Amino acid sequence: MQVKILSQSHIASLGLTMREIMDALIEGWKILAREKVELPAKIGIHPRPDCYVHAMPCYVPSLDAALIKWAAGYPSNFAKKLPYINGLIVVNDPETGLVEFIMDSAWVTAWRTGAATGVCAQLLAAEGASVAAVVGAGVQGTATGLALPAALPAALPALKTLKIYDLVPAQVDRFVEQVAPSAPRAELVRSPSVEACVAEADVVVTAVPILEKPQPVVRKSWLKSDVLCVSEDYDSGFDPEVMTSGLFVCDDRNQYLQTQSWGAYFQNYPRAEGLHADMSEICAGVKPSVKTGLRGAVLMGVAMHDVMTVELIKAKLKTNPVGQIAEI
Ligand SMILES: NC(=O)c1ccc[n+]([C@@H]2O[C@H](COP(=O)([O-])OP(=O)(O)OC[C@H]3O[C@@H](n4cnc5c(N)ncnc54)[C@H](O)[C@@H]3O)[C@@H](O)[C@H]2O)c1
Repeated sequence: MQVKILSQSHIASLGLTMREIMDALIEGWKILAREKVELPAKIGIHPRPDCYVHAMPCYVPSLDAALIKWAAGYPSNFAKKLPYINGLIVVNDPETGLVEFIMDSAWVTAWRTGAATGVCAQLLAAEGASVAAVVGAGVQGTATGLALPAALPAALPALKTLKIYDLVPAQVDRFVEQVAPSAPRAELVRSPSVEACVAEADVVVTAVPILEKPQPVVRKSWLKSDVLCVSEDYDSGFDPEVMTSGLFVCDDRNQYLQTQSWGAYFQNYPRAEGLHADMSEICAGVKPSVKTGLRGAVLMGVAMHDVMTVELIKAKLKTNPVGQIAEI
């Protein structure tokens, strides 16, 4: 059987923009609100402490799109100079079930993770938000840096200052190098501490390693009272008080509550009754997008985002057929 293989550089060469992916994610969340998408909560195995390999399947009837992502997250890889996140996306033909594509998942994951935060900021950040902070300047943090100031129309049109903190200064240097060209209107500021980074910020995003026993890096007392806090790292970035003291949203209600019910993550984060909305309800206008006060968002990442990004890739392949055909 023949399949098409797409490497990370094949995908990167297609020239997808952050705005295209953000718009696709908004549409994906609207689809989730109006039709029955098969999107089971991701399940995983944990071969080493704090390490996971997740299985993330999804089928979207109106797009007739089916795939599964098999993605590993290994915080211990940083010291080995290996990527934290790696994996594959397998795309099936829904008619026959045959595998059509096997592709790298790292590019799709990073760009759709940054895009999801960008959409969240677009919908929930204060009008005129001018200061944003990113804690954890790795691959996901950098993609977030591309989404917040750069995507036009911008997620944060009034953004003047983007503050960055990472335990490893070289990571901040890499972030600045990659984000600066697409953020000409924002000053990129290297912060000396997490506290300095998040102080006075209208939007705070964390993208640090997910730990089974979290040691949150952002305390509520360091934050403005009017702030949007977005966690890309489950419950590892923000002290639970940040998420329980104000309005709380997540990317997908089912996935968040299922994961919480398994007893490891989100044990001190809001329960079902404390959940204002998930992003599909906000994108569809079913629940209001509140832009004042303390707002917390947990964006765990859902396979629906991968489907929407892969649909963009498939469309680009029609005019730019990169990739390699392989016999499997
Ligand atoms: N929400 C999603 O959709 C999604 C998708 C993929 C990955 N993730 C998660 O995002 C997080 C980051 O992943 P990545 O691919 O960017 O990894 P990465 O290794 O590229 O980056 C992690 C960064 O965090 C820094 N760091 C570690 N501890 C820190 C601390 N206490 N304070 C500040 N910085 C610290 C590291 O130096 C590193 O630069 C992980 O938790 C990962 O599981 C989330």
